[in-house]
Amino acid sequence: MENNNSPFEENIRKIKVPVFKRFLSNSKLAPLSFEPTGKTLETKNSAAVAKAFTEVVGASSNKLLSGSKTNKKPAKGKRVAVLFSGGPAAGGHNVIAGLKAVLGKNNTLLGVKAGPKGLLEGDLFKITDEAVKHIMNTGGFDFLGSDRTKIKTKDQFQKVKNVCENNKLDAIVIIGGDDSNTNAAVLAEHLYGKVQVIGVPKTIDGDLQVGDLLPVSFGFDTATKIYSEMVGNILQDTPSSRKYWHFIKLMGRAASHVALEVALQTRPPVCLISEEIAQMRSSLGEIIDSIARIVVARAKKKINHGVVLIPEGIVEFIPEMNVLISELNDALSHYDRKEAVSHISAAGAQLFRSLPEYIQKMLLAERDAHGNLQVSLIPTERLIIDMVARRVKEIDPDVKFNTLNHFFGYEGRCGAPSLFDAAYTYNLGLIAGSLILDGRTGYMAALTDLDKGGKALGIPLTGLIHVERRHGKDEMVIEKALVRTDSPAFKFFASRREDWANEDRFTSPGPRQLWGPTAKQVPISVALNQGYKSLKFTL
Ligand code: FBP
Repeated sequence: MENNNSPFEENIRKIKVPVFKRFLSNSKLAPLSFEPTGKTLETKNSAAVAKAFTEVVGASSNKLLSGSKTNKKPAKGKRVAVLFSGGPAAGGHNVIAGLKAVLGKNNTLLGVKAGPKGLLEGDLFKITDEAVKHIMNTGGFDFLGSDRTKIKTKDQFQKVKNVCENNKLDAIVIIGGDDSNTNAAVLAEHLYGKVQVIGVPKTIDGDLQVGDLLPVSFGFDTATKIYSEMVGNILQDTPSSRKYWHFIKLMGRAASHVALEVALQTRPPVCLISEEIAQMRSSLGEIIDSIARIVVARAKKKINHGVVLIPEGIVEFIPEMNVLISELNDALSHYDRKEAVSHISAAGAQLFRSLPEYIQKMLLAERDAHGNLQVSLIPTERLIIDMVARRVKEIDPDVKFNTLNHFFGYEGRCGAPSLFDAAYTYNLGLIAGSLILDGRTGYMAALTDLDKGGKALGIPLTGLIHVERRHGKDEMVIEKALVRTDSPAFKFFASRREDWANEDRFTSPGPRQLWGPTAKQVPISVALNQGYKSLKFTL
């Protein structure tokens, strides 16, 4: 326990995070019990999903659960294991703290080291109260570690069963994003009747959302507040030094929620939104042309500076690139990297060859265990700079265009959680633990109505699963929530962006606050999309 002892870390540990009132009986913490509501969750593939998940769907009928106070005596003697899965996100440690608090002295909480891989290896240890005190309100996933292993083979399921038996586990909590919660649903089915499995919605990408049932995943608020501070500082620098256009790629593997939120917080001259590009079927050339025209128009007003925000996942949303990537995905599932390009369409191969070598290399790089292209490694911002520079020269050779490129990703996802993420995750831990004590399996813990004192829910994971083409074959996975161009947050952005491009209109939100007047601020996009009247959360 020598580490993480800066004055800041010492003090954040002592912050009392707000606890959802329903957990408190005479100011003592007590688990909730859950009842099915009248709401059933479905996707277009629900019939096929019900056939693949007979046990879990049979038990839940995909009905949403609502949590409330109970007089029932909580279950005792349960042994619960918790693991992180996928990329880290701020607040993970508080989920563990919430779990530990609600399970109390009568149950045991075990930590699984290094994610799903550690579960397969049986790398478990008992989590003590002292350890929880040390990790409270701290960022990162370092207490347990994480990885991206997908548990899918017969042999792997057997290994998990053995680990559960050897450790006498009654339940597993998987803290992860869409793919990891798919994993949770699959495990719930395989372990049905023996071990309960509950998911907790994590990902800085913000693409694990379920309308008004799950407004946001944890980690999104902290990451976007950190990026917004950094982008705000750069925006502040631009009219000071008056010489650079900054092209900033922002993390978010598929959806553009992060870029949209940062744009709402900072108001830069340009922010690309991948989902809009896909919907408008804009070509790479058109995107480049639109940025170049803004650069030239501002230069005419002697504004030779600016910021362009680029969502990390953009390449997969540009129609011609999307076709190329899916052709490559199919080819790479049959051929090695050297041969793959000769097995795609002529148009695809031509586009591939027109791209700089540094992009070609990354398009052929190994996919992650879930079949995803590792977009964080593709220097899209460099590609866009090169192409915009060329186009600016064509439109007006006299325009000064000095550029710098940045990638803000890893800087934001492990910072100490914002007060929102700290409270949200602690309460998600309480809800996940309550679902377990209530005997539930195959659900994701959720907390909604964040502006009205909160509402605890259990979302049936199988109600979120649809069929998607991956690795050249159809797979059942939880559908990613992308930015919708008809959402209030996008419409707000779209109604302002021309003004932000014409003149400098930026704002600098400053560092995230854990104390004081702005500490309780929720993400602007969440407040707009949920129709909250204020930016503050209340629990
Ligand atoms: P999750 O979907 O697992 O939450 O991960 C999100 C993310 O942070 C993405 O934004 C990013 O593309 C990716 O992880 C990077 O992953 P890695 O840590 O493997 O480089």
